[in-house]
Amino acid sequence: MTGVYPGSPGGFMVVVVSYMSYNKYKQLDPSLGLIAKLGQHIPISRYMSTDSQRIVGGVLVGTGLWVTIIMVMRNVLKCLLSWHGWMHAPHGSVSWSIRLWMLLVKVFSGRKPMLYSFQNSLPRLPVPSIKDTCRRYLESVRPLMDDEKYERMEGLTKDFEKNLGPRLQWYLKLKSWWASNYVSDWWEEYIYLRGRGPIMVNSNYYAMDFLYVFPTSIQAARAGNAIHAIMLYRRKLDRAQIKPIYLLANKIPLCSAQWEQMFNTSRVPGLETAQCEHMFNSSRVPGVDTDTLQHMNDSKHIAVYHKGRFFKVWMFYDGRLLLPREIEQQMQRILNDQSEPLPGEEKLAALTAGERTPWAKARETYFARGKNKQSLDAIEKAAFCVTLDDTEQRYDADNPVKSLDSYAKSLLHGKCYDRWFDKTFNLIVFKNGTMGLNAEHSWADAPIVGHLWEHVLSLDPIKLGYTEEGHCCGEPHPNLPGPLKLSWDIPAECQEVIESSLTVARALADDVDSHIFPFKDFGKGLIKKCRTSPDAFIQIALQLAQYRDKGKFCLTYEASMTRLFREGRTETVRSCTMETCAFVRAMIRDETREERLSLLKVAAEKHQNMYRMAMTGDGIDRHLFCLYVVSKYLGEDSPFLKEVLSEPWRLSTSQTPMQQVELFDLVRHPEFVSSGGGFGPVADDGYGVSYIIVGENLINFHISSKHSSPETDSHRFGGNIRQAMLDILDLFQLDKKTK
Ligand SMILES: *[C@@H]1O[C@H](CO)[C@@H](O)[C@H](O)[C@H]1NC(C)=O
Ligand SMILES: *[C@@H]1O[C@H](CO)[C@@H](O)[C@H](O)[C@H]1NC(C)=O
Ligand SMILES: *[C@@H]1O[C@H](CO)[C@@H](O)[C@H](O)[C@H]1NC(C)=O
Repeated sequence: MTGVYPGSPGGFMVVVVSYMSYNKYKQLDPSLGLIAKLGQHIPISRYMSTDSQRIVGGVLVGTGLWVTIIMVMRNVLKCLLSWHGWMHAPHGSVSWSIRLWMLLVKVFSGRKPMLYSFQNSLPRLPVPSIKDTCRRYLESVRPLMDDEKYERMEGLTKDFEKNLGPRLQWYLKLKSWWASNYVSDWWEEYIYLRGRGPIMVNSNYYAMDFLYVFPTSIQAARAGNAIHAIMLYRRKLDRAQIKPIYLLANKIPLCSAQWEQMFNTSRVPGLETAQCEHMFNSSRVPGVDTDTLQHMNDSKHIAVYHKGRFFKVWMFYDGRLLLPREIEQQMQRILNDQSEPLPGEEKLAALTAGERTPWAKARETYFARGKNKQSLDAIEKAAFCVTLDDTEQRYDADNPVKSLDSYAKSLLHGKCYDRWFDKTFNLIVFKNGTMGLNAEHSWADAPIVGHLWEHVLSLDPIKLGYTEEGHCCGEPHPNLPGPLKLSWDIPAECQEVIESSLTVARALADDVDSHIFPFKDFGKGLIKKCRTSPDAFIQIALQLAQYRDKGKFCLTYEASMTRLFREGRTETVRSCTMETCAFVRAMIRDETREERLSLLKVAAEKHQNMYRMAMTGDGIDRHLFCLYVVSKYLGEDSPFLKEVLSEPWRLSTSQTPMQQVELFDLVRHPEFVSSGGGFGPVADDGYGVSYIIVGENLINFHISSKHSSPETDSHRFGGNIRQAMLDILDLFQLDKKTK
């Protein structure tokens, strides 16, 4: 169905039948002489009566017509979707041309699309011109440099723009013509898979449970419902029945490519592979290590970790998916199992938490054969991994700060050996029934994992539900075979590698200063009353908070997405702009309220504009990144690119979008809110901030930094964010108006 979308069997019949009746009515040969032509080469007419010849000919030409219609529709839709003017239309007023355009998009979108239906109709990410990118770059660093530094940078940029740039750009253009996306394959490889440092904390991120709802306190039961819900999602995904994601009131489809590797996949550490050949292959540095994503098209089990032991649990019995209560039964069996871990087994997963190269070497040396290979396969080829954690975590109203911080840290790194960090995602269920996810980053970005998680959370307490005692609904199975305990033979030398990986990982984990706080004073509702975009409002508040926190501005990263284009992933919005800085200064100095408000308005507009440009392929950073990769392939040294790519992002931010608001009834059940997710610190002396706007009145912030930096303190920054939010809202003097 996806292959012929927007065509369908029904459409096929309609086209062929109407084509043939038209010809019959007009007394024409429906095969347009095709049969006669074919008859000259192959003797077909001998076996067919004239009537069947007409029918076969009619069907053949009708099919051709149908395929042509599909192709035309796809290409027209692609052209329509390449236009992004709607984004810049002022809020609230929709002009006639946009309405007409939307109508056309709707007509050419076809009906009942499935997850991958639009893949062939999505436009390609365009390569911006060197001149534009350089200009935008200079503008973005202006507030962060004094005159002298800026002049130097301007010189470097101009030199690049004139000399090396055009040559690199030429190669990049070449790539953009044949590749489906000129950034994504390089981004995946160079940013994620080639990294040799630990992926735990540095790259993996987490998603949290409900904040105030505890559907059950029975660990196995929570796991039962959650695992079942995830398996239901997988089934929907395998049948491509998940609805594509849209922007703008369900009109404009986004790319779905990132869903392909959600299940049955693991990242595998690599040593000097010769894979991933690229166009400049010949000049590649030989012997670089890169990880790979290993995807199985068949995986009927999950892998479960509990107290140092690994289990393989089949998800199907009697040819059907296990029901929640049956999964609970399996989990309870694991919890009841009192066996000791085998030597080296308990901390085995620390290998996935430490440096990649020792892991790759250990994997090749100790896990390539026999028992160990079988057991490792059971983990890596599982649909996904589950940890039945032996700690308790939960939001505690009497101790909100400590309880949430510990919960977040547990999801982000745990004990460093109790999550399989290479897996696309780990479901973590704590001893008292709270849960969460830890997701690997190379295969997809947070919105994709978020989509799965929203599905799980919306099914769990309401649709699947629990009995009064807190068990899953249904009956245990009388003769279900138990989980399979994996067996290992891990030699002492390998245990040493595990220990040293664990030491590296622990140092990293202990350094994470995590702070989660629900901001309850106001939310999207009030911000909209201020006629400001919520995202811009929060980003500007973050700038104010960061300035108050550190006394200076810093290069800021805000993740946005480019999934309007085929295989698009993310783009950076450099959200510390001249305009926000002007506003922040006005807040620090004594300016009048009117002055501040007007600066705020300008800053918010600027921010939104930058965000839109990033989404429509006119960003700065992915283009520069790709130019850098080309320069490396060509063996050219560019001081400009080198400098740009090594500038640290001292504030790294990301909004977690709520994508399926219809799944949650926030009016009647406002407590059924996900508390969002977060990620580790990106720069040594910087902050990572992730936020989720929940309903109308709540914003959850997840802040991370490193204890080892004297400049940062996540809790202090949290306080500054709260104050900044309140101060900005104050400018609008809403209370006075409403009272
Ligand atoms: C699954 O993968 C195997 C080997 O990689 C391949 O032979 C087989 O055809 C694949 N099956 C499907 C249904 O794609
Ligand atoms: C994952 O494995 C299941 C079970 O074998 C299979 O049905 C499904 O198609 C696989 N999914 C993908 C995306 O390969
Ligand atoms: C775990 O849940 C139980 C009851 O469900 C509660 O009493 C306990 O305080 C929770 N533990 C933590 C660490 O919050």
